[in-house]
Amino acid sequence: MPFTIAIDGPAASGKGTIARALAAHYGFAHLDTGLLYRAVGARGGDPVAAARALEPADLARPGLRTAEAGIAASIVAAIPEVRAALVDFQRRFAAQEPGAILDGRDIGTAICPHAEVKLYVIADDRTRAQRRAAELDADEDETLAQLRDRDARDSTRATTPLRPAPDAVFLDTTTLTIDEAIARAVAEVEARMDD
Ligand code: C5P
Repeated sequence: MPFTIAIDGPAASGKGTIARALAAHYGFAHLDTGLLYRAVGARGGDPVAAARALEPADLARPGLRTAEAGIAASIVAAIPEVRAALVDFQRRFAAQEPGAILDGRDIGTAICPHAEVKLYVIADDRTRAQRRAAELDADEDETLAQLRDRDARDSTRATTPLRPAPDAVFLDTTTLTIDEAIARAVAEVEARMDD
């Protein structure tokens, strides 16, 4: 049985960093599911057709990490047919041995509701904006406004909105160093592996 770790939370909360670190620690495959929506948004044209035609190579295309690609992603992510077209790819990824880590918005609630570990990673808005602005060399206030917009769209859409699963463990990274956040995540995983 593969071991699945679902990591959800708002933009720039630290979930990608934690997911990559856990993947390296446990030798699990990692999928940043935001890239799927970013690739669909960046492709232009009919987003439903783009989602149905999406190939793994599309996830490596340049330009997917920009703020504009994030905004485009959150717009196409609100379309139920786009989300439906991406479910199988994510579930196949999650079924890999010995385990897989998926990070996104609806992993613990919709894609992998039976994941052995579910983390919901949060951080206060200002901290998230500081981190993302530094990453993208962008203006902090503008980044903050964009993150809030995106969170609002992601939390209020009708289909699988951003929400913690009832059995998710919250991890607030606001005052934690990266190493501390990773150590907490590892402790959660260890606790579930021992069950
Ligand atoms: O995580 P990232 O910032 O790359 O995600 C970009 C956008 O993709 C999010 O704002 C959200 O709208 C969408 N997304 C989603 N479900 C996921 C992952 C991302 O709706 N599992």
